[in-house]
Amino acid sequence: MKILMMGPPGAGKGTIAEMLSENFGVVHLSSGDILRDAIKENNPLGMKAKAFMEKGVLVPDEIIIELMKEKLNTDKFVLDGFPRNLAQVKKLEEANIGIDIVLNLQVDEETIISRISGRRICEKCGKIYHLKNMPPKKNGICDVCGGKLYQRKDDKPQTIKERLNTYKRQTEELIKYYGEKGILKNIDAGGNKETTYAKITDLEWLKKRRYK
Ligand code: AP5
Repeated sequence: MKILMMGPPGAGKGTIAEMLSENFGVVHLSSGDILRDAIKENNPLGMKAKAFMEKGVLVPDEIIIELMKEKLNTDKFVLDGFPRNLAQVKKLEEANIGIDIVLNLQVDEETIISRISGRRICEKCGKIYHLKNMPPKKNGICDVCGGKLYQRKDDKPQTIKERLNTYKRQTEELIKYYGEKGILKNIDAGGNKETTYAKITDLEWLKKRRYK
């Protein structure tokens, strides 16, 4: 089962990917998380990527491709954030890594900005919260592991704008590409996460697969 999540920053790709991973036993591969981990570990590729991420633009293809290469050694995954342009799609295809279904989360810009500005993440286990929509039980503390919650550096207003522009300029064209391949499903993701998830598990393709 090879699923690709698409959609603008803050659409809920990571949130839904976590749910799919838990319920279908697929590995959640988030290129953003992989990059943030590489920075935390002072990995030379991560250090090169840092300035690009803080500006809200894509990191150079060779960096992300090198980091993703070793993670893509499974055939049960939900990819989130990669590929992000046609050069990255080409690399996947050259490596014979096919995608079965592309879930394109559609959300309006006002919702995106409110979701991103309220996002908080656990520094220990990576669980995603939202100050209003999905708050932790205890302010600033992860419900799952007790880790501290933090705000991503690129979740500040100016960088959010740049990330949205980058998405429109470079990533949106993949929607047309996968649409022409006949594997794209558009999902209205403006409702809460349960509603969005139900729309996804209601798709014939996923209904045929076992889920909890
Ligand atoms: P990345 O980490 O991939 O960020 P992104 O694509 O901008 O996506 P986000 O993580 O911001 O949003 P999401 O859709 O996962 O939303 P989430 O579920 O968290 O990339 C960061 C940077 O890394 C890039 O800018 C780039 O520099 C670099 N990069 C990454 N991949 C790359 C690549 N392939 N090539 C080159 N560079 C790359 O939800 C957002 C918030 O909303 C949360 O607070 C959540 O709780 C809340 N929420 C979610 N769903 C709902 C809902 N249904 N209702 C209410 N609230 C909700």
